Amino acid sequence: MTTTAAQSGLVVPSGGFTPYPEVPQPNIFPMEWRVETPKLAELYERSKRQVWNPADFPWETLRPEDFTEEQRLGIMYWYAVLANFDGSGPAVFAKATIHAFETHQEDPIRKCFFSITRDEMNHEEVCQRAIQKLIPGAPLDFEATSDLAKAAQNNIGWLYHNGGRYWTGYSASLAKYPLSVLFTSFLMGEVASSTLFFGMSKKATHPVFKELFKKVGQDEARHLAICLTVLERDWPGLSDEYKTMITKQLRAGFVFLSMILWEPPNQFWDIPDYFMPNHRVLVQHARDAGLGVLTYEEQAENWKLALARVRAIVGEWGIDFPAIPELDVEGVDVGHIGPEDIIPVF
Ligand SMILES: [Fe+2]
Ligand SMILES: [Fe+2]
Repeated sequence: MTTTAAQSGLVVPSGGFTPYPEVPQPNIFPMEWRVETPKLAELYERSKRQVWNPADFPWETLRPEDFTEEQRLGIMYWYAVLANFDGSGPAVFAKATIHAFETHQEDPIRKCFFSITRDEMNHEEVCQRAIQKLIPGAPLDFEATSDLAKAAQNNIGWLYHNGGRYWTGYSASLAKYPLSVLFTSFLMGEVASSTLFFGMSKKATHPVFKELFKKVGQDEARHLAICLTVLERDWPGLSDEYKTMITKQLRAGFVFLSMILWEPPNQFWDIPDYFMPNHRVLVQHARDAGLGVLTYEEQAENWKLALARVRAIVGEWGIDFPAIPELDVEGVDVGHIGPEDIIPVF
């Protein structure tokens, strides 16, 4: 028998309420906002306060006619190389956001991933705007008339081919690795990107680029803080098997990110022989145009400093650092690195 309270209309079954069905797990969204790491909630708030709009930049001051054709190609090329990394950012973090929801991570982790997705979309838009402003249709769909333009277009096509090689591996890695392993790759990416953009914001002479690098660098520094906070939470208690995996991930991060931070090692990258010489010529034109690209030696020094930072962080948790003979960094030999090892992030 059911009693109805006459005034409110509320129904209270005399035998009690029917228990609701348990939702099978993992399931897409948690119905709670659990906070285990308040620091992450603070970082999410910071991301909302620091939000900016790439469309509001004074793009009219980036005038194609202020540069030589070689310089326009150089800048376009450098941004296309960057886009090969930044272009994957939104999708990588959107997937990670969904993963965080499915596995019912605490609320600030879900939100922090979302904020990185938002930021990466802005970074990707910066590449888009810089490229299209200087060479409409670029990086791939423009008519290349000079040898330099053809070389740029061809190199970018090769880069894109390589970008396409790791996507399936990344998609599978979400289910395969715990968050802490994924985050180590993210950590490498964020240390690399914050280092890169900080260095370039200091060196760029064109005001638009200087300001852009500052804004993007500020976002990357926040991404780095998010990574470090998650890792502090997850690293204690990590099994030896995962520690070994992380060491390999760090080497994979170096192999992958060196393409934009320095020069890629002879591993993973499937590129023709002429790729690197042409890459150097094009990047030099970007440098001459005031984009703020560091010299080969400065890049190596910068990368080495960034790696030393990562090494110190992971060392605290008893994780070995991989050997990076390219930069005279000693460490563990992790063997072959293939597309399945690359977790693309920037
Ligand atoms: Fe980014
Ligand atoms: Fe980032």
